[in-house]
Amino acid sequence: ADGAQVPALVIGSGYGGCVAALRLAEAGVDVQLVEMGMAWDTPGADGEIFANTTDPDQRSYWLRTRTKQPISNFLGFPIDRDIARYTGILDAEDFSGITVYQGRGVGGGSLVNGGMAVTPRRENFGAILPTVNSAEMYGTYYPRANTALGVAAIDPDWFETTECYQYARVGRRHAQRSGFPFVFVPDVYDWAYMKQEAAGAVPKSALAGEILYGNNHGKKSLQKTYLPRIRATGKVTVSPLHKVTTVRPASGGGYTVTLEQLDTGGATTATKEVTADRVFFAAGSVGTSKLLVALRASGALPRLNEEIGKGWGDNGNVMCGRANHLWDPTGSLQSSIPTAGIDNWAAGGAFAEVAPLPTGIETFASFYLSITRNPHRAEFSWNSGAGRVELNWQTAWKRESIDMAKSIFDKINAKEGTIYRTDLFGTYKIWGDHLTYHPLGGAVLGKATDNYGRLHGHPGLYVIDGALIPGNTSVNPFVTITALAERNIEKIIATDL
Ligand code: FDA
Repeated sequence: ADGAQVPALVIGSGYGGCVAALRLAEAGVDVQLVEMGMAWDTPGADGEIFANTTDPDQRSYWLRTRTKQPISNFLGFPIDRDIARYTGILDAEDFSGITVYQGRGVGGGSLVNGGMAVTPRRENFGAILPTVNSAEMYGTYYPRANTALGVAAIDPDWFETTECYQYARVGRRHAQRSGFPFVFVPDVYDWAYMKQEAAGAVPKSALAGEILYGNNHGKKSLQKTYLPRIRATGKVTVSPLHKVTTVRPASGGGYTVTLEQLDTGGATTATKEVTADRVFFAAGSVGTSKLLVALRASGALPRLNEEIGKGWGDNGNVMCGRANHLWDPTGSLQSSIPTAGIDNWAAGGAFAEVAPLPTGIETFASFYLSITRNPHRAEFSWNSGAGRVELNWQTAWKRESIDMAKSIFDKINAKEGTIYRTDLFGTYKIWGDHLTYHPLGGAVLGKATDNYGRLHGHPGLYVIDGALIPGNTSVNPFVTITALAERNIEKIIATDL
C-alpha cells in the first residue's frame, strides 16, 4: 500500500527475485515482492491461462500491437499477426542491434522458457564467474538450485522409442556421424506428465506445442516450485502489475521506492511510494541494468560506480535450421521441450540444442539454438535527449557466433549432404542472429557490486539476478542464476541482517 514501510523489497519475480524472497522470509523477514507483469493465475476466454505457440493472441506479448515471433517466417511466408495491446507474457524488447526476449509476470522468465536446466561443466566455471569459489558452487549451491527447481533428466528408454523425440534422435544421429559429443539436457518439465500426454491420458502441453507463451500443464515453472513455498511462509506480499520506477535514499534511512500500478493496457492507474530498509534488484539483466543506469544518471543513486551498465552479453545465442532428406523425417509430433544437445564448446565454442519445430506437420527440418563463446560485451547508457536507456550492441557482433555454430553445422551438412534452411528468419536468410533469449550482465559481480551482489556506494541495495553474470554461461543460464542467488542471499542473511 502507498506509504508502507517494509524491511525488504524485491524488484522482479524471476529466479533471482524468488530465491531472495523465499530465503529472506524463511529468515523471518517480511518481504514485498513487486512484479510489473501479471499474476498468470486466471484462465482467459478459452478456459486456458496461457495461449498456444501456434495461435498467439493478446496474452502472448508485452504491450505490442503485432506479434514478433522469434521464427518470423515459415516456408518463406511471414507469420506475424496483429494483436490487442496487453500486458502479455513475452516481451520482445527492441534495442538498436538486438531484440531481447524476456518473460513478464509472476515467475519471470520461468513462465516462457524451455525449462532446459543445465549446470555448466566445472572446467568452464572459472570463465563464467571468476571471483566465485567453484568448490562451494558445485558442492552446495548448484545442488540446492537443481533440487529446488525440480530438475530431472528424460527416461533414456522412453527417449529411444517415443514419437515426440524423433527430431532429437535424428539430431543425435547427425551429430554423432560427424563425430560431435551428444549430451542429454535436463529440464524442469514433469517427465512423468509428458509420458501421460503421449499416452493420451491427460491434457497436452509439451505435446501441444506450448512453450513461448506459457505452459498450461507439465512445466515446473517458478509458479510450481519457489512461489508456493514463498506463499507458505506467510511473510511475502506479491504485487503483480506494479512497476518500480525509482529508488532513492529515504531521509530516515533505507530507501524510498516509487511504484506505478498498471492496468492490462499498460497505463498507469496509481503511483505509490514504499520505504524499504533493503532493496533487491531482481528485474532481470535488462530490467535491473535499465533501472540502475537511469537512477545513477538522474542523481537518485549518485554513488553507483562506473561499472553500472557494463559487461552485457547475449550468451552467444544464434539459431538455424537444416533441411533434411526426404528419407530422414523429424516427425509431425514434436515435444516443445528440448532434451538433446551437441557439446562442441571446448573445440569450437558452441553448445547447440536440438530444438523442436512444433508445427504439427512434417517439416523435414532440424532446428537448433546455439549458445556460443561470443567475445563482445555491450553497455547500457542513458540517452538524455531521448529520455531512455540504450544498449550499444551491434548486429555485426553475431559474426563470431555464426562462425562457432558453423563449426558444427557446416560439418554435419557436408557429411549428410544437406543444406541450411533459408526460410525461417526471412527470405534467403540462414541465421537467426537478430535476438537473444539469454540476456546476462549489466551489473557484474565483483565490479558493479562486491563479490555477493552488494551494490557499491549505497549500503542496503543488492543485485541478485542475471545482471550479475558477465555475458555468458556456456550453457542455458537459469540454473546458474538460481545457484548464484542462493549463494549470495545466504551470505547476506548471515552478515547483513
Ligand atoms: P527474469 O527475467 O526471470 O525476471 C525478472 C522479472 O522482473 C520479470 O518478471 C520482469 O517482468 C520483472 N521486472 C522487470 N523490470 C521491472 C520493474 N521495473 N518493476 C517490477 N518488475 C520488473 N534459460 C535456461 O536456462 N533454459 C532455457 O530453456 C531457457 N529458455 C528460454 C526461452 C525464452 C523464450 C526466454 C525468453 C528465455 C529463456 N531462458 C532459458 C532464459 C531464462 O528464462 C532467463 O535467463 C531467466 O529467466 C533470468 O532470470 P532473472 O531472475 O535474471 O530475471
